[in-house]
Amino acid sequence: MRKGQTPLVCLTAYTTPIARLVDRHCDIVLVGDSVGMVLHGLSSTLGVTLDMMIMHGQAVRRGLVRSLMVVDLPFGSYEESPEQAFRNAARLMAQTGCAAVKLEGGEKMAETIRFLGARGVPVMAHVGLTPQSVNTFGGYRVQGRGDDAERIRRDAGAVTEAGAFSVVLEKVPEPLAKRITAEIAVPTIGIGASLACDGQILVSDDMLGLFSSFRPKFVKRYAELGDQADAAIAAYAADVRERRFPAAEHLYANETKAGGVT
Ligand code: KIV
Repeated sequence: MRKGQTPLVCLTAYTTPIARLVDRHCDIVLVGDSVGMVLHGLSSTLGVTLDMMIMHGQAVRRGLVRSLMVVDLPFGSYEESPEQAFRNAARLMAQTGCAAVKLEGGEKMAETIRFLGARGVPVMAHVGLTPQSVNTFGGYRVQGRGDDAERIRRDAGAVTEAGAFSVVLEKVPEPLAKRITAEIAVPTIGIGASLACDGQILVSDDMLGLFSSFRPKFVKRYAELGDQADAAIAAYAADVRERRFPAAEHLYANETKAGGVT
């Protein structure tokens, strides 16, 4: 229904407070395996486990009222067989209350996507730069340039044919993203892809300026909360060292005031 309509607004969340904030504005909230790099300090998403995804998924669930919640299947939890993928997707759905799972891969994952869809698991596919394959790509490189475009088109077509309800297109040339969006029947969600996509996604911490160790070109910073936090912590540290904090208003008197205690 949302194909070619008002673009779908998608962001990641890993915690209840951020889930509450993004829920007010988003159509889809993704508990991405980027949590490994953003919150756990890992150098890639490869070390993220199913248990981590479940814990963050449960936290996000508590903060959502209206958006569709999707949780990533982490590296190693679905590639072996459709059966393995179902077992782990079922755990994610049962234990987090998410409505769908996301997995990386195109043609090679088509059979798995079909298997999951036939058993009650809606799948968001992810093609182009798939970060779980960073070691086979040799880095976080743009995918689908020149003749390689056909591979990405085949991937997007295969996952759509297999029943994916949407396809994330990450870090692909703009004309290719536009072409795929026109070709496939389900919404494309772009990240470093094209304005023509049916939706856009960013990592919340990236666009809020809270995560700076990795800053791809496709990230637009809508705030610099990391700088604000740094200034606030510096001010606190100075106040403590100069004995300006705590001030009288932060302290408790010996006697109880009429009207109760705060
Ligand atoms: O893990 C993630 O956050 C993602 C999005 C960036 C698409 O896969």
